[in-house]
Amino acid sequence: MTDSDKHGDRDGTGMQKDPAPDPRWGRPGPLHDPRLLAGFKGRPSDVLITTAPKAGTTWMQQILHQLRSGGDTDFRSIYDVVPWLERPRPGKDWRVVLAEYEAMSDPRIFKTHCTYPQTPAADTVRIVLTSRDPRDCCVSFYHHLMDMTPEARRRAGIPRPASFDEFFERWLDFGAWFRNVQSWWPHFRDPNVLWLRYEDLKRDFPAALDRIAAFLGWSLTPVQREKVLEYCSFSWMRAHAERFTRFSADEAPLFRPGGFIRKGQSGGYRELLSPAHEARILAKAREMLEPACLSFLELA
Ligand code: A3P
Repeated sequence: MTDSDKHGDRDGTGMQKDPAPDPRWGRPGPLHDPRLLAGFKGRPSDVLITTAPKAGTTWMQQILHQLRSGGDTDFRSIYDVVPWLERPRPGKDWRVVLAEYEAMSDPRIFKTHCTYPQTPAADTVRIVLTSRDPRDCCVSFYHHLMDMTPEARRRAGIPRPASFDEFFERWLDFGAWFRNVQSWWPHFRDPNVLWLRYEDLKRDFPAALDRIAAFLGWSLTPVQREKVLEYCSFSWMRAHAERFTRFSADEAPLFRPGGFIRKGQSGGYRELLSPAHEARILAKAREMLEPACLSFLELA
């Protein structure tokens, strides 16, 4: 056996296989291609939107795209202008995806759900991170799965939950929210990181918009600012939901009408979570997160 056989470079057919990426980039899955992370060449002008799922990722995709463009409604899928970095594209070789990333003009914006160690160039690109109360993320995720079309669920390899309780056990055990926040917290004060809370965006969106613009050094005229405020509102995004619920202009929406851009509220978790569910989420947060992080998130 040669060295390259041992490292999995050959498959017995004599053909050279793709080298396996370093395990630090995570395991391949329907929504995670480690080769895209390993091969990504970050630029200092890049902006990465980093979130745990359901923390307002799509809202931030829209906010940053609107800030960058000064108000643009000429796109059919937000993913065409703000790609999801690690998402495999069915039928498209990962090298082609990376070449497309290379061809994008600056400033590029990407979405990712990666933890800090899995995020390429995390110390050189600009990071805009949004966190949201885990109780709201949990309930939002449940609706996300229930509102997905059967075809979208099949492609993502995610089964429809049989009940809220069954979903809850899986969500808590998988723990993406907890791992994501835990991994980023040590970088809260890094100069290239802006950490925002969904609840603050809801409370005073114009102030949050100005804060993001100042962090990125992107300015708007008063007319542009008015447009951006309108296009980032819940009502505008809900009225144009098809732009936010499909991965490309020529795909069918992944959600039933009214799904995904759903309620957009803070504290709506009370509709589904029992005191026992809540207690378990808070106990896990307290087990995994530092006191300073818990108090910043108002979970202490
Ligand atoms: P709900 O399910 O609670 O309504 P993500 O993009 O990370 O998957 O997050 C989706 C959540 O963000 C959904 O929450 C969705 O309604 C909310 N959202 C999307 N656009 C929004 C906006 N303009 N204002 C407030 N919330 C928004």
